Amino acid sequence: MGLANIINRGEKPEGSAFMAAFVAVFVAFGGILFGYDTGTISGVMAMPFVKKTFTDDGLEFTSEQTSLITSILSAGTFTGAISAPWASDTLGRRLGLILFCVVFSVGAILQTAATGRTLLIVGRVVAGLGVGGVSSIVPLYQSEVAPKWIRGAVVSIYQFAITIGLLLAAIVNNATKNKDNSASYRIPLGLQLLWAVILSGGLILLPETPRFWIKKGEYDKAADSLRRLRRLPVEHEAVQKELLEIQSSHDHEMQIGSATWAACFSPKGSQLKRMLTGIAIQALQQLTGINFIFYYGTEFFKKSNISNPFLIQMITNIVNVVMTIPGIMFVDRVGRRKLLLIGAIVMCSSEFIVAAVGTAIDNETSSKVLIAFTCTFIAGFAATWGPIAWVVIGEIFPLRIRAKGVALCAASNWLFNFAIAFATPYLVDEAPGSAGLKTKVFFIWGGCNFLCIAFTYFFIYETKGLTLEEVDQMYAEIKIASRSHQFVPTTRVAAYDEHASDDKKDGQHVYIESV
Ligand code: BGC
Repeated sequence: MGLANIINRGEKPEGSAFMAAFVAVFVAFGGILFGYDTGTISGVMAMPFVKKTFTDDGLEFTSEQTSLITSILSAGTFTGAISAPWASDTLGRRLGLILFCVVFSVGAILQTAATGRTLLIVGRVVAGLGVGGVSSIVPLYQSEVAPKWIRGAVVSIYQFAITIGLLLAAIVNNATKNKDNSASYRIPLGLQLLWAVILSGGLILLPETPRFWIKKGEYDKAADSLRRLRRLPVEHEAVQKELLEIQSSHDHEMQIGSATWAACFSPKGSQLKRMLTGIAIQALQQLTGINFIFYYGTEFFKKSNISNPFLIQMITNIVNVVMTIPGIMFVDRVGRRKLLLIGAIVMCSSEFIVAAVGTAIDNETSSKVLIAFTCTFIAGFAATWGPIAWVVIGEIFPLRIRAKGVALCAASNWLFNFAIAFATPYLVDEAPGSAGLKTKVFFIWGGCNFLCIAFTYFFIYETKGLTLEEVDQMYAEIKIASRSHQFVPTTRVAAYDEHASDDKKDGQHVYIESV
């Protein structure tokens, strides 16, 4: 069974999909940077040598210091994500990514060189700027180069890379944690550089996206990029048709409105709806409670009387990596809407079970239930909301404002990431001034997952198998998300088709069948 059969029932692409898929998958490497960087710090701060070197009393970080060093990354990531379009819309998606890799590398070098808190904190902010920028350009780049029939799968591979990054961080920290010298933290922090060097090195050789060149008015460069991606001559009908579709859709969009930040929130052309959908899906992805497990899991398992919390945390990471694979396989076959609904239901039920059992009983059985249903929760996330939140934001915006739209959504992810990282200890802990919710905090995450079900039903359009330009057309024509499966794609090429009859040429809203 070929790849096409597994992920989309064997739809045959025109030209070779190999190069485009290779490029899109290579760029997913940015996910390793993302996952590794977010995953590494909590372990580093728990190392005895780090505590000896970086704390005032040589013993423990204060809560303020822990909170600052952990969450300062989010200040950088938020700013990096929001500023990414400045680079990706002017320099290009590819050079923009390279630039943010360089910024990230500077941050990684500062952290590795640090022997005191100040440099470590400055390094975290700078690296954060890089991660934020990368996180908002990768799904954009991938969506713009991937053939439509595997777009969901390749963007999901970005999430796969994030999960591998998280796992690698856990493994490396575990390997160096007991060293009684600076290698304990310099190895895990220095390794971050490797991911950035591999990504930017590869990007030097890869093509810019055809859609960026069309946006810039460089038709020939767009044609050349598509030639490299589809491995077909520029004159080939399939290349010409795709170029025409991108060009005409973009021209049409430019007549609707400008490409400013304000345009992202314009009610015209259902833009506001798309923007709110993207911001909400990223916020809700964080509100599922996933990072409660990845940031505070070890500590939480320990307090829940689980005997080997480090091992359990390693298992949760492995479940996260492995269960992303069915997500990659099914996103273009089952579709975004169904998977998001199934995932939200699985996560919601798992979390309510953890909360109810954890509240009612406190013995060995409840610990087992806690571990088992935490794993089903993570499995549900990894196969659905983890990858698909990134897939959706890469494909719902028109080219004119795509970079800005994706950036705002990625920034929403980082903002909620920060808010949850910051607030959770106050919700869970029993210390004075904290809410002392303990396992009951899962009632909150379960409730948020209930919202995820409703949100998916009312707001998520089914976009599998459509080109980005067809997605745009669907939003214009179909007003209700639950009816999106009724959409039949047509393209706007009639007005540009030299063979089209005159009556087809004289309007912007004339379509010809493309399927
Ligand atoms: C989320 C991260 C999370 C990771 C877990 C990503 O999609 O945005 O916040 O840590 O998934 O796999």
